[in-house]
Amino acid sequence: MPDSIIDLRSDTVTRPTPGMRAAIAAAEVGDDVFHEDPTVLRLQERVAALLGKEAALFVPSGTMSNQICIKGHTQPGDEMLCETNCHVYNYEAGGPAVLSGVTCRTIPGEYGILDVSQLEDKVRPVNEHLVRTRLVCLENTHNRGGGRIFPLEKIQAISQWARQHNLIMHLDGARLWNAIIATGIPATAWGRHFDTVSVCFSKGLGAPIGSALVGPRDFIARGRHIRKLFGGGMRQAGIAAAGALYALEHHVERLAEDHRNARVIAQAVGDTPGLRLQPPEVETNLIWISVDAELGTAKEVAAALKPHGVLIHTPGPQMLRACTHLDVSAAQAERAADTIRKAVQRLVPAR
Ligand SMILES: Cc1ncc(COP(=O)(O)O)c(C=O)c1O
Repeated sequence: MPDSIIDLRSDTVTRPTPGMRAAIAAAEVGDDVFHEDPTVLRLQERVAALLGKEAALFVPSGTMSNQICIKGHTQPGDEMLCETNCHVYNYEAGGPAVLSGVTCRTIPGEYGILDVSQLEDKVRPVNEHLVRTRLVCLENTHNRGGGRIFPLEKIQAISQWARQHNLIMHLDGARLWNAIIATGIPATAWGRHFDTVSVCFSKGLGAPIGSALVGPRDFIARGRHIRKLFGGGMRQAGIAAAGALYALEHHVERLAEDHRNARVIAQAVGDTPGLRLQPPEVETNLIWISVDAELGTAKEVAAALKPHGVLIHTPGPQMLRACTHLDVSAAQAERAADTIRKAVQRLVPAR
């Protein structure tokens, strides 16, 4: 991608850096379905240790990671509690229903954040008419919540309550790295409140592929079986795991830059009449923006930015999302901010 293009559509658009490509090229590999890929084994040990869990499993995508966990934790006919706008319910192609026979009971949060008081009456009594409430799935940071960080004390309260009711806790931590860097709270402190956690290497960390689930050793063994069932058993997967290991080594601390760059863009959005930050404060690398009708549609705003080399995602008719990531420099964030101020302001008299 030429330097003149600033691609803010997603933090998944990054390309591996020269250093990461070198690590990938040099990766020691073996057949991972035979448990013989040393790079995958190293990555799994590293991620399990980081999150304070017994074991980990490398998988191709965040979707597969979440769906393996949902299947591993439930029986068909079970129910899962999750936030209305969460990824597992909205953007995983109906996975809980299709792959696990699980119904989702959705609860609206405040920009993705739930309070334990909203869950307290959601456990169904044991009764032949009813589904069995089995699993709570949270998301941190929350994508459709505008990159919001789930406050640790809220997670702790939900986790304590869940344990009292024999419910299992799963975290979609696709962007947990961003929460860790933004708060300074280490991975283990988040991980301890969940039975399983899914993390991604292909979003803010800039690896080309790969996610991992972590949890108790016996659960991960079951997860391996489900991964095979879902077609996710990979052979010389060390090629991909090397990118993930490199990302863990070199691209976690730098997420602070993405957060700074996101604030620069957010400031420009805040200064532009007709655009509104959702939520008003940007905590990590995601900037969700609602577009007032008098300014036009989200697609019209995106079209006004595109000729200036700024690409932005349009997840709804009046909604935009911008993401900062490894391939957006501080200078590019400044340029994107400037473009938003000028190009969007020009839209008002044009209509
Ligand atoms: C919060 C969240 N969870 C899970 C996923 C799924 O990841 P993948 O695209 O690797 O399947 C995404 C993807 O963007 C995400 O934003």
